[in-house]
Amino acid sequence: MKKQRTTFNSKFGLVMASVGSAVGLGNIWRFPYEAGEHGGGAFLIVYVFCVLILGLSVMLAEFFIGRASQENSVGAFKVLAPHTMWKIIGYNGVIAAFLIFGFYSVVSGWTLEYIYQSIAGNINASSVEKFTADFDKFTSDAFRPVLWILVFTLITHAVVLLGVKKGIERTSKLMMPLLFVILTVLCIRSLMLPNSIEGLKFFFKPDFSKITSDVVLSALGQAFFSVSVGMCCMITYASYFNKSINMPRTAVSVVTLDTVVAIMAGVVIFPAVTSFNISPSQGPSLVFVTLPNIFQQMPLGGLWSLIFFVLLAIAALTSIISMHEVVTAYLHEQYRMSRSKAATIVSLSGFAVGVICSLSFGILSHFRIFGIIIFDLLDFITANLMLTLGGMFICIFVGWFVDKKVLKAELTNNGTVKFRLFSVFVFVIKYIAPVIIALVCIKKLGLF
Ligand code: PHE
Repeated sequence: MKKQRTTFNSKFGLVMASVGSAVGLGNIWRFPYEAGEHGGGAFLIVYVFCVLILGLSVMLAEFFIGRASQENSVGAFKVLAPHTMWKIIGYNGVIAAFLIFGFYSVVSGWTLEYIYQSIAGNINASSVEKFTADFDKFTSDAFRPVLWILVFTLITHAVVLLGVKKGIERTSKLMMPLLFVILTVLCIRSLMLPNSIEGLKFFFKPDFSKITSDVVLSALGQAFFSVSVGMCCMITYASYFNKSINMPRTAVSVVTLDTVVAIMAGVVIFPAVTSFNISPSQGPSLVFVTLPNIFQQMPLGGLWSLIFFVLLAIAALTSIISMHEVVTAYLHEQYRMSRSKAATIVSLSGFAVGVICSLSFGILSHFRIFGIIIFDLLDFITANLMLTLGGMFICIFVGWFVDKKVLKAELTNNGTVKFRLFSVFVFVIKYIAPVIIALVCIKKLGLF
């Protein structure tokens, strides 16, 4: 007889855990600079479409796979499609989770450094150039960022060791509401700045002429990364859902909350940027260079800076534990090793990848593959290729391979909850999502 699987304790807890995975650096660090670089309002519209149609559908497909099989990402395909190649999707997910863990832990570590600097009262350089120089000096250092990666990995390790209920669920239940409170306070502060309306206009007013294929590609990649789909993270979490959970509703809640956080992050950042006359298209350093520069010009700047980087660290933590969990659950269940042994292997090897990524800003910066440093390479391979391709095959698997009666029974809890848009969902995962994703991937690889 199969052992009863651990489940999340409460509905609120499981929604917070899933939102915790989705809401992360992707929303607060990556989304604003992607939007800033790709025309603000135009990007926002395409992004919202990608998240609400494609992100939501892939998430629901992953929820189905996870809860129907009650297995980790590889085990799930072994149960639902025994002796077939579909399990490759699961392996792709495990590898992607592991690699994302590596470069994500670097940026997570940076948030700790900025928390430390805010407390120490050091966020007070004289100019943007000085902030940039400080940022470059810190990120290219061989020791300091590595130390922070170690701290972040140890915290993640501790949460994962505590398990699904006591670790992941409890942490998310505590952190996510806190994140919303902090974000709301920052939004209000930002809206009170002089000239904030200009920033809102940039962010919300779409200029349709700016919607190019490049904008669509970036928006899709960002959408998948942001709602944590394509790499089986939601398969793993859904395997801990109990059978009475309304999955369509849960998926809608998670995607909506994730989008709300991304939009709120934009509302914090763009008014601040325009209010201080800074260009919104700064790229990845937007949050680490531009914002500190803005904070120092505000009354109580050090405090605002501290609050902001605590927010970023919380968002990063609840996401990184979900990547860790994907790999830990896989090792623990597929190789029958204890959970603590599996978690230790993931933490140690993830830390090693993190160190290599971090050093790629400094002493390993001359080591380039396809002309880019290892950090950027991992970002590109995972977010742009592994997640999108993973998402596409997940749709194909559920849309074409899974019996629709089984699918419907699982998604409606054997007919006890309503899912009116079931046939729309099936149409999207069968036709729309695979075609759009395939076109995007081909374009990304420069094949046409
Ligand atoms: N969704 C997270 C974010 O927005 C990143 C993530 C990707 C987490 C994939 C888990 C899996 O930052």
